[in-house]
Amino acid sequence: MSEKISVLVSEEDVTKRLKELGEQISKDYEGKEIHMICILKGGVFFMVDLSKRISVPVSLDFMSVSSYGNGTKSSGVVRIAKDLDESIEGKDVLIVEDIIDSGRTLYYLMDILKKRNPKSIRLCTLLDKPERREKDVKVDYVGFEIPDEFVVGYGLDYAQKYRNLPYIGVVEGVE
Ligand code: IMP
Ligand code: MG
Repeated sequence: MSEKISVLVSEEDVTKRLKELGEQISKDYEGKEIHMICILKGGVFFMVDLSKRISVPVSLDFMSVSSYGNGTKSSGVVRIAKDLDESIEGKDVLIVEDIIDSGRTLYYLMDILKKRNPKSIRLCTLLDKPERREKDVKVDYVGFEIPDEFVVGYGLDYAQKYRNLPYIGVVEGVE
């Protein structure tokens, strides 16, 4: 079965925005090192491409969280499925996420990570759906603000499919 997908953000626009974000982040972290934490699996494509645009030293780690809920909505109950490999104590941490929707996942995660005493912690997301916010999370870097529609591609999935699309698209008929 395959769904109809219409382009919301083209590959070209994603690439352009990544370059801008990379420059901004490199400037903000001048003289520092960034410990980037990717939230699996959706954040992988974004973190890999963004990190290549950053000119200060970078180290990478990965974390996987799953929220109990159905396919397209998060329940707010978050479980750490894979924790970080390294300590974040004293590090300048940048969380890299694919999308902030209700904000529940990140609200919970930021709370856990702050308790581990990083030197600083900021949040970078490829996409933001501000209309959907239920939990107040401070987002430091946003690729694109998008309307309340279910999107796929560039890391984002619908039932695990379409992560590998090089653009961001809307799946027709999905709520
Ligand atoms: P939140 O906890 O509601 O902010 O949900 C965040 C997570 O829900 C994201 O990390 C995605 O995995 C998933 N999600 C939210 N909106 C979308 C979407 O439009 N497409 C694909 N996944 C989404
Ligand atoms: Mg995610």
